[in-house]
Amino acid sequence: MTVATRQTAPALLQIDAVLARLTGRSAEQEVCRFLRESFRHYRWVGVYRLEGDTLVLDAWDGPEETEHVRIPIDRGVCGRAAREGRTVIVDDVRSDPEYLACFLETRSEIVVPIRHAGRVVGEIDIDGTTVGAYDASDRQFLETVAARLSDAVARSASAPPPA
Ligand code: SME
Repeated sequence: MTVATRQTAPALLQIDAVLARLTGRSAEQEVCRFLRESFRHYRWVGVYRLEGDTLVLDAWDGPEETEHVRIPIDRGVCGRAAREGRTVIVDDVRSDPEYLACFLETRSEIVVPIRHAGRVVGEIDIDGTTVGAYDASDRQFLETVAARLSDAVARSASAPPPA
């Protein structure tokens, strides 16, 4: 599937509106919800924040929770994207030896690093239920979303943990 060019501009406007209203983890949460609701091939959407050498799940939206709420940077597709500082698209998770299984239905995954002041501070992780669900249009769109989330993730890191 793809993200059509006509969809990206209105989606980014909506995301800008969310980020003007909310900050930190609330902003991350609302962006996850918006992405999942707006794009049918985004079945599960999460934002991980990099804390030292561990990816910590800050926000997510989807039908089920994941057991992978903390992922060491040397593990998983998520770890690979953070280590290498680049977007990773896995067309078929069944043939990726590093893949950490979360949901039975997942067939493909895209993980997009979020940078702040040049450093990777987190990532967007999206799961899909069909093989090859993500292409260059998803990468381009989500890299733009990741750039917009930079401040929210940096603020989430300095915020006190939720009560
Ligand atoms: N599949 C990921 C783990 C996170 S879940 O998809 C939510 C990985 O291989 O790193």
